[in-house]
Amino acid sequence: MGVSFDKIDGDMLLKFDVRPSANPTSEKDRTAKLADPGFGRVFTDHMAVVRYSQAKGWHDARVESRANFALDPATAVLHYAQEIFEGLKAYKRDDGGVNLFRPDANARRFRNSADRMAMAPLPESVFIDAVEQLVRIDRAWMPGGEGSLYMRPFMIANEVFLGVKPSAEYIFAVIASPVGSYFKGGPAPVSIWVSENYTRAAIGGTGAVKCGGNYAASLRAQAEAIDHGCDQVVFLDAIERRYIEELGGMNVFFVFDDGSLLTPPLGTILPGITRDSIITLAKDSGMRVREETYTIDQWRSDAGSGKLKEAFACGTAAVISPIGTVRSASGDFTINNGAAGTVAMGMRKKLVDIQYGRAADPHNWIRKVL
Ligand code: PLP
Ligand code: COI
Repeated sequence: MGVSFDKIDGDMLLKFDVRPSANPTSEKDRTAKLADPGFGRVFTDHMAVVRYSQAKGWHDARVESRANFALDPATAVLHYAQEIFEGLKAYKRDDGGVNLFRPDANARRFRNSADRMAMAPLPESVFIDAVEQLVRIDRAWMPGGEGSLYMRPFMIANEVFLGVKPSAEYIFAVIASPVGSYFKGGPAPVSIWVSENYTRAAIGGTGAVKCGGNYAASLRAQAEAIDHGCDQVVFLDAIERRYIEELGGMNVFFVFDDGSLLTPPLGTILPGITRDSIITLAKDSGMRVREETYTIDQWRSDAGSGKLKEAFACGTAAVISPIGTVRSASGDFTINNGAAGTVAMGMRKKLVDIQYGRAADPHNWIRKVL
């Protein structure tokens, strides 16, 4: 059964009312915050907000000072987690301009997430416009070097009602966070814990969309990973509990001794934009790429025999991070002696060079915002 939303036109244009902050962060404080931003703790001065109601459709588009939302305690999202989000980055080019990487793909995935969660679909043009407006007004927050401005679009159900049904009202917003590396060690190899007790997604569930609930459900397994000295958790399929799916917030690739790449097929995993970009770049360079199932037992045995040369995680936040060690209740193993592999690091450079505008962009992935 579909959910119908009135007042949604295919690609309507909403004009943002831009109200610059009267009290922006001082240059001194901003410079101090940008010196070592880490991931996700430093925020810019503004946010973009658009509201939806069944009566008005999408309306009241603004770029304004970043501020708290006032939410009634009975607001739907606080009870039933009707929430979705995206993650994409803005990159500073050497000429001082700013690139977004495939924002159209994030806008499309956001629409798919909204559809799965019975939320009002946001026109893709509004998503992209909101992201671009925020990058422009907060351009002073663009980190230099290998940093970037992480953009976090999200949507919450804000009808005040305790009945279980799709909300009649939504808030779409975008906030921005200057970031360095997601992992403390930068692109140094990470360690992975195999979750044998908890799964992430089943067929027919929400694994393929970016809803907050997926991440809430992953936290227990991620905590188990940390308890075992690992950086991230990797999930297995929910039926046979042996096929590798993905990490808590990243997709995964395997590199074999014949030079081919393998990544788990779409279905219950998030269709990562980094994943898709890597597949495309690898095929461009003549590599064979298989989107096929791969079991944890095969992974262990291929790592032992040397058939598996490398494994790496990928995502917007993590970029490409080699996997050095795999730990599980049934034993540990290392890949490539725990060192970063040349395929992972070469692919990382190729991707990052396109994102920062240092290399040609044969697939038209870059959108220049400034
Ligand atoms: N898988 C999960 C569960 C994620 O949260 C992410 C991050 O967004 C990814 C994969 C990678 O997706 P993308 O490359 O689009 O950032
Ligand atoms: C991203 O890579 O953008 C993610 O959303 C992963 C994580 C920070 C949730």
